[in-house]
Amino acid sequence: MRIAQTSDLWWKNAVIYCLDPETFYDDAGNGTGDFSGLIQRVDYLSALGVNCIWLMPFYPSPERDDGYDVTDFFNVDPRLGTLGDVVEFIRTAKDRGMRVIADFVINHTSDKHPWFVQARKSVDNPYRHYYVWRSDPPPDTSKDVVFPGEQDSIWTKDAATGEWYLHRFMVHQPDLNISHPQVRDEIAKAMGFWLQLGLDGFRLDAVPFFLETIGEPPQDIPHDPHEYLRALRRFVNRRSGEAIFLGEVNLPYKDQLRYFGDEGDELTMMFDFMAMQNLYVSLAKNDARPLARTLSKRPPIPGDCQWAMFVRNHDELTLDKLSEADRQAVFEAFGPEEDMQLYGRGLRRRLPTMLDGDQDRIRMVYSLLFTLPGTPTLFYGEEIGMGENLDVPDRGAVRTPMQWTDGKNAGFSDAPASKLVAPMPEGRFGPEKINAANQMRDPDSLWHFVARLIQRYRDCPELGWGTFEVLKQPAKAVLLHASVWQDSLMLLAHNFGPDAVTVRAALPDAGRQDLESGAFLLDLLGDNHIGLEDDGGFTMEMKPYGYRWFRLQRSGANRLP
Ligand code: BGC
Repeated sequence: MRIAQTSDLWWKNAVIYCLDPETFYDDAGNGTGDFSGLIQRVDYLSALGVNCIWLMPFYPSPERDDGYDVTDFFNVDPRLGTLGDVVEFIRTAKDRGMRVIADFVINHTSDKHPWFVQARKSVDNPYRHYYVWRSDPPPDTSKDVVFPGEQDSIWTKDAATGEWYLHRFMVHQPDLNISHPQVRDEIAKAMGFWLQLGLDGFRLDAVPFFLETIGEPPQDIPHDPHEYLRALRRFVNRRSGEAIFLGEVNLPYKDQLRYFGDEGDELTMMFDFMAMQNLYVSLAKNDARPLARTLSKRPPIPGDCQWAMFVRNHDELTLDKLSEADRQAVFEAFGPEEDMQLYGRGLRRRLPTMLDGDQDRIRMVYSLLFTLPGTPTLFYGEEIGMGENLDVPDRGAVRTPMQWTDGKNAGFSDAPASKLVAPMPEGRFGPEKINAANQMRDPDSLWHFVARLIQRYRDCPELGWGTFEVLKQPAKAVLLHASVWQDSLMLLAHNFGPDAVTVRAALPDAGRQDLESGAFLLDLLGDNHIGLEDDGGFTMEMKPYGYRWFRLQRSGANRLP
């Protein structure tokens, strides 16, 4: 029973890797990555140990929002390949034991989508109500825009009919009207299509926005947005029992919780934006407590659901849920220049540059990512410590091509450099210094470190499945936590500070039962095991920015970790 459960709920301890085929590997040699290139790099991902690939949008698109502006939900951007190439890729990934999920953008389409082209022709066009319109002038909505500086209203007047359409994002991304039965049918059909081709689920973009049904009065279908999400999930799981919804819901925990559904029947997983943002406060202050406090406030979630943990994603590092003082502290530490900041709330940088290339600190953060309660999610290039290129506008700074080698165009493409989909960073974080080929040859590289973390994480079901508890101890710079699953207990320690520190603490209650003499903490990343005192107390030495993983051995009899 346990075995069936642990393999069925595969997302509970998966390792997710997000990439954009456009920037991963260019097989055609025209400067843009493609699916046939990606197929050639599946073994690389398999060697790293990830077991779920998240594809950023690859649908036909005018690319005004990097593919998050879709013109056809049933097809592939011809620059990236054909449906046949996508199927070959999915098949190859599955052959190597990996699952594939993909971004699915329900909130809006591109304004070039044939539905919108039709919809804006006249008020009685059959596609009119695929979108959300109002005939009276909208109030000031400048505070509701998602991209301040790029938008000043969420409504734009359309010349042909003199009415305003809703766009929570850019003006060229009209919101779909999900209270329209035909729109719901189209969405279900598109999801069914991709499941049939072999996808294992979807990363749902901007969930609170798409569920919001401003403007349009309900049609002849029930108007509870959460009921709609449940219905969509039921549909998806009828088509594929293993398919997941991984939702982007950047809200405080108590609001976020609703999107799992009371019975765990809405989103399967959600990114933990609150923990991510507070991780950076802890890093900026060399103080583990902001993160510890945040994690301790996290509400319990339905058993089959899971959090997705991440350090960086493809967007700006949003700090929107922090207090002004904490946000400023992070800006000051990791992005003091205006050009590094975006939308007044975030940073367009990757972690290694923010940490000034400090290997110990970078490794501490990734060790933490793999031990926090939830499913770790990597953004391509994190495994080698890629930096950003601030010369690329907006969020494009962190979406530069994957750095494979120190050769021409970082081994990404044979095209002339001027044809590349985006220019690489130069200097300390450029491909001459940071690339996958060199790191795969060097056993001490970040790549090997991350691969080892992945392997360890997969060996430790406590981390994905267990309960989580922050342990009390006096060192402010240290996060010490326990993960308990069945009769097994792990202790994880991370030092956010630049000084070595001695941590004295005691096992939590779950660890004190059945302790025999000679019980000890088995070091899972090295061989500095720690003996336990009779009362379950222990003393742990932490290096500057140190990280340690232990599993409790209740008796002195040594056994395999
Ligand atoms: C994606 C962004 C995108 C936006 C609009 C987001 O949540 O992560 O990259 O620009 O949705 O689709």
